[in-house]
Amino acid sequence: MSTPILSVKGLSKHFDGLKAVDNLSFDVFKGEILGVIGPNGSGKTTTFNCITGYYKSTAGEVLFDGKSITGRTPDFVAQQGIGRTFQVTRPFGDMTVWENVTTGAFLRTMHLMEAKKIAEQEVEFVGLADKINVVARSLSIIDQRRLEFARALATKPKLLLLDEVMAGLNAQEVDEALKLVHRVSAMGITLVVVEHVMKVITSISNRVLVLNFGAKLTEGKPADVMSTPSVIEAYLGKGFGDYVANC
Ligand SMILES: Nc1ncnc2c1ncn2[C@@H]1O[C@H](COP(=O)(O)OP(=O)(O)O)[C@@H](O)[C@H]1O
Ligand SMILES: [Mg+2]
Repeated sequence: MSTPILSVKGLSKHFDGLKAVDNLSFDVFKGEILGVIGPNGSGKTTTFNCITGYYKSTAGEVLFDGKSITGRTPDFVAQQGIGRTFQVTRPFGDMTVWENVTTGAFLRTMHLMEAKKIAEQEVEFVGLADKINVVARSLSIIDQRRLEFARALATKPKLLLLDEVMAGLNAQEVDEALKLVHRVSAMGITLVVVEHVMKVITSISNRVLVLNFGAKLTEGKPADVMSTPSVIEAYLGKGFGDYVANC
């Protein structure tokens, strides 16, 4: 795990006076699962948006596989091999599961039959085979998350960024989602996982990065990070009840 697949160097994103991301630097190593936590509004989603080209960063550099992807478009970044899910899932509601996932597969092939084949495999992989012809808008939350996962996997990423894919799931569904993440990791895909629930992060991550006010608070092994006073404080600031409930 010594080669960084992604290097974020001095990344900043300002919205008028607000420093949503503030001189943030971190590496993601090949094959690892990096967990990212931080209170609401600490810049997790904005960081993903800057990496994947949805936002133009104010300053800093992003290297993927040693090459700069700074300022590139979302399409270019996806083509290089960075996949992502969105915190607010936005499937094409009138399209079926299969059609939705096929849109992801078109990143790798222009042939409809080939794209459909890739999509079918990913739909099966995430456990949605029996709903492949169901329209997206009628799916349950967990199935919408599966769909989002399948669409991202159909782009054949080397690195996958997951933004709160477990939010709104019950305990059993969280377990299912965790298994899926482990299977994706076992396929050799490097993962960056943003989650709000601490126990999810501690059970899944090789390393954890903690953000607060857009900057790095600390990073390290899950157990070490969780016992760091400044991390506890950042969460206590948000509400002691939340912290206890999530541990
Ligand atoms: N497009 C935007 N315009 C203005 N402010 C934004 C925009 N996107 C995010 N922000 C602000 O940036 C900060 C970080 O947001 P975000 O990255 O979504 O946090 P997190 O994902 O950690 O909850 C918040 O204060 C948020 O309101
Ligand atoms: Mg977010």
